[in-house]
Amino acid sequence: MPKQDPQIQRKVEHLFLAEKFFTDKASADFDKVRLLHDALPELSLKDIDLSTSFLGRKISMPIYFNAITGGSRQSARFNSQLATLAKELNIPVSSGSMGVALRLPETETSFKVLRENNPNGIVISNVSAKANAEQAKTAVDMVNADALQIHLNNLQELAMPEGDKEFFWLDNIKDIVKSIKVPVIVKEVGFGISQNNLADLYNVGVKFVDISGSGGTDFAQIESERNHELDLTYLDQLSLSTVEALLESIPYQKKMTVLASGGIRTPMDVIKAIRLGANAVGMSGLVLHHLQKTSLEETKIFFDQFTKQLQIIMAAIGAKTITDIKKAPIILDGSLTNYIKQRNIK
Ligand code: FNR
Repeated sequence: MPKQDPQIQRKVEHLFLAEKFFTDKASADFDKVRLLHDALPELSLKDIDLSTSFLGRKISMPIYFNAITGGSRQSARFNSQLATLAKELNIPVSSGSMGVALRLPETETSFKVLRENNPNGIVISNVSAKANAEQAKTAVDMVNADALQIHLNNLQELAMPEGDKEFFWLDNIKDIVKSIKVPVIVKEVGFGISQNNLADLYNVGVKFVDISGSGGTDFAQIESERNHELDLTYLDQLSLSTVEALLESIPYQKKMTVLASGGIRTPMDVIKAIRLGANAVGMSGLVLHHLQKTSLEETKIFFDQFTKQLQIIMAAIGAKTITDIKKAPIILDGSLTNYIKQRNIK
């Protein structure tokens, strides 16, 4: 693989900087959401069923490893580990942006490992919103993907010195949705999607969205660290937190499948995201942190314990199934009710 290619170099820096800025305390606003327990749940902990359906297929819990990487030697190692873990946990795994492999075919192996290590699981391809339909199809075929993610990352691009400065994306997205055979998930990269943008996406035929809000990995911070000319860290002030973006999605939850990511740290965050309407919850920073700081084996133990805790919380709120979580009593703090009012969310 060419070592000095700037796009590959950037991927390596993202891995390193995401870890540098990782914190256990996310600010995705889950602390502003309360769930109430059920003192008469009439269930047994052993009967709690975490399984759910993701794009029409059964998975063991409503979690997926979201887009992270590909292209470099380091990416190949992480993708190999992510796919192995996803297979063991029976959850979906997404690739990082595959633009680099479309340009440099010698980097394809760092993506193909996702399918090789997880031959029967759900693997998701990922391209930028400027990709055309043919490139999107190549990305899907490369890993025999079950779905395609298109990422919206204009704030990230603006914060990058070498980033795109033109953002004409809706027609591309429309074309891809029309011509690609697998489900297309449009996702943000940690700045959230507003109800106005959900309307735009719905109008061009998008049925699956990952609102990927702020509170976790922050690309304004990461790119500002890489950008030695301008400090654009403050761009994150324009973001919607993951909870805010989930609230924005409420009017669309019957028409679109809503997925959530951004700053997921605990099993309680996952349950709250589902209560707010997410069908499944994605994580990047958290799993990457464990893989970078510990080993694949220890990361597996972390997720086994995470799974047990999801079951315990479900028992505590009287939810036997993932669908039951959506009936749990919920209380939002004043800043969120004010947000709902000002944003006119109905
Ligand atoms: C990302 N993310 C990302 N998203 C995407 O659609 N394509 C990509 O190539 C990448 N690359 C990438 C690299 C690294 C190192 C990280 C940590 C993340 C964004 C990711 O999928 C997610 O939307 C955000 O990171 C928010 O979730 P977390 O990290 O707070 O769980």
